[in-house]
Amino acid sequence: MSTTIGSFIAGGIAACGAVTVTHSFETVKIRLQLQGELQTKRDAPKLYRGVLHGVRVIYHNEGMKGLLRGLSCAYIYQMTLNGCRLGFYDPIRTHLNALALNRDLSSSHDSAVKAYQSLPINIASGATSGILGAAAGSPFFLVKTRLQSFSPFLPVGTQHNYTTAWDGLSKIYSAEGVRGLYRGIGPAMIRTGFGSSVQLPTYFLAKRQLQKHTSLAEGPALHLLSSACSGIVVCIVMHPPDTVMSRMYNQTGNLYSGAFDCLYRTVKTEGLLAVYKGFFAHLARILPHTILTLSLAEQTMRVMRRFEESALGIPDKLKGA
Ligand SMILES: *[C@@H]1O[C@H](CO)[C@@H](O)[C@H](O)[C@H]1NC(C)=O
Ligand SMILES: *[C@@H]1O[C@H](CO)[C@@H](O)[C@H](O)[C@H]1NC(C)=O
Repeated sequence: MSTTIGSFIAGGIAACGAVTVTHSFETVKIRLQLQGELQTKRDAPKLYRGVLHGVRVIYHNEGMKGLLRGLSCAYIYQMTLNGCRLGFYDPIRTHLNALALNRDLSSSHDSAVKAYQSLPINIASGATSGILGAAAGSPFFLVKTRLQSFSPFLPVGTQHNYTTAWDGLSKIYSAEGVRGLYRGIGPAMIRTGFGSSVQLPTYFLAKRQLQKHTSLAEGPALHLLSSACSGIVVCIVMHPPDTVMSRMYNQTGNLYSGAFDCLYRTVKTEGLLAVYKGFFAHLARILPHTILTLSLAEQTMRVMRRFEESALGIPDKLKGA
């Protein structure tokens, strides 16, 4: 295993690589989610008619720049999320292990406590560290959402004309303070919590079922299919709070009193399926993201391991697990 800093950098590079490839779909998703907000189906404008139409229209009018708006925020968000996952996962897990084994909390450094493996505890630790990361990264996601919904040609959503991520952050801070920066943090945490908690169980479930019902053996094909199944379920579970989040991020506190108000009024005026607006764009982002993160992580981890061994001379034995 490589060191923690090594895994942070390697995981971060992998996540940013995946984000770069799928960012266009994220832009389309956000515009689809905001389009026709609180309007009945009949009155709602349909500037963007779906994933491919959205990509085409944005590329045609705004070029690559339009599709990649907010990319730097997406990188910072990924690094924050990734850092929190790596930094909090182990401490949370060992503390929960100590509780489960009926041991003193101060025993969380014991090797028996560290070595204890329980799937529910691992999932809970993964979800909790993801939720903490989502909370920490929420201001970047907020600015990202506003940058991505800005369009000089076919605008949906309140148009915040920020020149850069930094410009966005400082404008929000000076107008609304810290409160403004953390707008929408609730649905952001729920969304990531939902996603992180179903990812592993569905992955293992899909893998078991595939092994039972097909002749696939342990290997890349099985991993790919299982992670695709897991990605679909993650998207189904994550999308409704994601839509609420995009809408909470678009407003500036004047439209909804909270996330549940947003959900209620969205469903009431636009129908139940409104929470699934932009679903296919989201799926188009999540599926390759999952697959790319997994396969790129393999590569970057290997490079990082080699770099640490040759350049820093850290032998494998000293690095711990
Ligand atoms: C956004 O701001 C830029 C520069 O500040 C300006 O040139 C442009 O016209 C603005 N666009 C819109 C749609 O407000
Ligand atoms: C975005 O938020 C503003 C309030 O800040 C609201 O007026 C608008 O309807 C919302 N939705 C869209 C699609 O602009």
